[in-house]
Amino acid sequence: RLIDCIVGARPNFVKIAPIMKALALRNNFSTRLIHTGQHYDVAMNEVFFADLRIPKPDLNLEVGSGTSTAQTAQVMLKLEPVMASRRPDLLLVVGDVNSTLAAALVAAKLGVPLAHVEAGLRSNDLTMPEEINRIVTDRLSNLLFTTERAGNENLIEEGVSPEKIFFVGNVMIDSMLASLERAEPAGGTLSELDPSNAIAADAANGFAFVTLHRPSNVDDPEKLAGLLKALSAISRDIPLVFPMHPRTKAVIQNAELGGLLQDSRVLVSPPLSYLRALGLMREAKFVITDSGGVQEETTALGVPCLTARENTERPITIDEGSNTLIGACPDAIIAAANDILCNGGKGGRIPALWDGKASERIADRIEAYLDARVATSRPL
Ligand code: UD1
Repeated sequence: RLIDCIVGARPNFVKIAPIMKALALRNNFSTRLIHTGQHYDVAMNEVFFADLRIPKPDLNLEVGSGTSTAQTAQVMLKLEPVMASRRPDLLLVVGDVNSTLAAALVAAKLGVPLAHVEAGLRSNDLTMPEEINRIVTDRLSNLLFTTERAGNENLIEEGVSPEKIFFVGNVMIDSMLASLERAEPAGGTLSELDPSNAIAADAANGFAFVTLHRPSNVDDPEKLAGLLKALSAISRDIPLVFPMHPRTKAVIQNAELGGLLQDSRVLVSPPLSYLRALGLMREAKFVITDSGGVQEETTALGVPCLTARENTERPITIDEGSNTLIGACPDAIIAAANDILCNGGKGGRIPALWDGKASERIADRIEAYLDARVATSRPL
C-alpha cells in the first residue's frame, strides 16, 4: 500500500518528519515523499531535512516561487502525471501552504483518498492565503487530523461528518520534543551570528526572539517600517534576535528600510536551522512572531509569545498556552514587550495530546482506514 506524502515549505518539513518516521515503523506501507519545490533556498530547505533527519525526497517538482495562484497551478500540473502514473492508496498533506492545497486538489480530481494533518484550524480571515488553503483542503479530505478541539468544532460546524475527524495532537510538537536534546545552546548561535560581540554580549543577559513574514505585516513597506521601528525601540531594553525570512528581506531591500535597524540592538540573521531556532526560542525571555508554528512551539516550551496579528487560527495557544494576541500596531507591540519586561510574561499549560505521540496516532488511523477500504472492496 502506497502513501504519497507532500511537502513544499519550511513548516511542512517540521510536520512531516515525525509522520515519515511513524509510517516507516509499519511494514505494511510504503511511502513516497514528494517535494513540490515551493521552498528551495538551502537555508529554507536542505538544512531542515538534515536537522529533522527526513529522508531525501523521492521526487522534487521544482515549482519555485510565483504568485499564490501560479504556484498552486504549477504544483497541480506537475503532480498530476506523477500520481496518475503510479496511483497511491492515500495522499497525505500537512499544514496550510499553497503546496498543501494544490496536492489536495489533484488527489480529489484523481479520486485518491486524502488525509489532512492539522485540519480544522480557522482564522476566519479570508485575506490570509492559508485560510483559503485550509478551508478547501478540509472540504476535500477523507481523514482530518486535528491538533486542538477547536479544529473539531470548526469542522463539525462546516458540515464535515464526525467519523472523518480525529483529534490526534500536534505533529509539530512531536518534532520539537524529539529534537530538544539536540537543539543548539543559544550562546553558541549568538556569538556565531555576531562575531563582533556588540549585541551578543548583552544578549547573554537575556534576549527576545523575533520572526515576521506574514504578507499582511511585511508586504506593505509602510507597515513594515512601523514594525521595524517598534523592534528598534524594544531593543533599547532587551536585545532582539531576528532571523529574517526571504520575503521580509526582499521588502526591506526594495524599500530601503535597512537603516531603521541600524544602531539598534536588533541582531538580524539569515533564516536559521531548526535546531538553532529551537535553541534560541527555548532560552528567549519572550518571542514576537506572526508565524503559526511559533505560537505552538512557544506554548509547548512555556515561553511567553506576543503574536503580531489581529487573529489566530490556533486559539488554544491563547486559552491554555503562553500566547497573547497583540495586533500589529507598533505602539501595542512596544507596550506588550514592556509589560513582559516589568511584570513577567504569561505562563500556561501544555494542551491535551501535545505529547510527542500525534504521529503514531495518525499512523494507526491511516492503517485502520486502509484496512477498512480493503475489507469493503474485497469480493465476497
Ligand atoms: C509560505 C507559506 C506560509 C508559511 C511560510 C513559511 C503559503 C501561502 N505560504 O510563505 O504559510 O508560513 O511559507 O516560510 O504557502 N523565497 C526565497 N527562497 C525560498 C522560498 C521563498 O527566496 O526558498 C522568497 C521568494 O521571493 C518568494 C517569497 O520568499 O517569492 C515567498 O515565498 P512563498 O513560498 O511564496 O511564501 P512564504 O512567504 O514563504
